Amino acid sequence: MSPGDSILDVQNLSKFFPGGRGTTIHAVNDVSFAIRPGEILGMVGESGSGKSTIGRAIVGLAHATSGQIIFRGQDITGLPEKKFRGLRKDLQIVFQDPWGALNPRLKVRTIVEEPLRLHTQMNATDRRRRVEELAQLVRLNAGLLTRYPNELSGGQLQRVCIARALATNPELIVLDEPTSSLDLSVRAGILRLLLELRTETSIAMLFISHDLGTVRLISDRIVVIYLGRIVEQGPTEQVFKAPAHPYTQALLSAHLPPDPAIDQGRHILEGEIPSSVTLPEGCFFAGRCPVAVEACSHQRPTMVTLDGDHQAACLRISEGANSIGDAPILGGPKQVSAQSNTASGRTP
Ligand SMILES: Nc1ncnc2c1ncn2[C@@H]1O[C@H](COP(=O)(O)OP(=O)(O)OP(=O)(O)O)[C@@H](O)[C@H]1O
Ligand SMILES: [Mg+2]
Repeated sequence: MSPGDSILDVQNLSKFFPGGRGTTIHAVNDVSFAIRPGEILGMVGESGSGKSTIGRAIVGLAHATSGQIIFRGQDITGLPEKKFRGLRKDLQIVFQDPWGALNPRLKVRTIVEEPLRLHTQMNATDRRRRVEELAQLVRLNAGLLTRYPNELSGGQLQRVCIARALATNPELIVLDEPTSSLDLSVRAGILRLLLELRTETSIAMLFISHDLGTVRLISDRIVVIYLGRIVEQGPTEQVFKAPAHPYTQALLSAHLPPDPAIDQGRHILEGEIPSSVTLPEGCFFAGRCPVAVEACSHQRPTMVTLDGDHQAACLRISEGANSIGDAPILGGPKQVSAQSNTASGRTP
């Protein structure tokens, strides 16, 4: 993808936080990816892998330690809040917890109207009309606009958050686990809504989730993160059908239903994600990887293009022939597996 094709270009983004006792938490490590206009990019990875930090950096809620965030061709990295305010209407975020995201003292109507007051010149009548239009867009009963957040269900509240985020017709919206805190039945409704929105609007989305089924359903392309680094990215079906990185293979294999024919050959993804305070010297996944060789523990793999947009960072792939040892690494998720069907190892 050439830079001109994308609405967002994240280039070599790193974000470190001070840890205790003079240590550094390396939350995001040299991450590069792009989002095209109107595209839904799914981002998956275990808990603590840096997904939210990337999302927050994009919308200006976290300042990058290094690297660039280019939005519509403009470098927006480290813009002071005052300057970022002008971009807010085009760049929005929806958080995981709709209860915490809404002011309980304001009526739903006022909440959805707020970005219109702040970022547009619309008069009261136009704002009122737009709020009603938004309620319709997110399938929220207009009668709920006069209620307070505590009178609404979790699913309804998340629709309010989405309506508020869409109010000013943003070009990109970051959705940080928007369905994770909702009941399963409610979750399906929100996903359906996002899929409908995507056909009704031309909005691009970064959809962060640890639930692979959800990501597969909704995303055009996916990015797989491990310890703040991208290990694989590509068109969703290509990655799901032919995962190249052993970590992606493990995640996807665990996502498949149990199959006695292949279960014996599966590698269980053991151990914990390493500490982001002391990063491994070589490949971050080497300590848990079933096909790691000696070089993996001291050599950082770079991204290798496998096919078109499909890329992975693994020394074993770089070795050539698209194979890891005896196991064909493009042969699907049969070689390795994890223990749960979510990237974080927790139940959805
Ligand atoms: N404000 C902060 N101060 C210090 N450390 C932070 C801060 N925010 C995030 N971190 C650390 O950065 C790392 C990445 O966290 P992040 O929340 O981005 O991960 P995540 O992939 O979103 O995880 P989850 O799936 O649990 O939401 C973690 O080690 C986390 O503890
Ligand atoms: Mg998170």
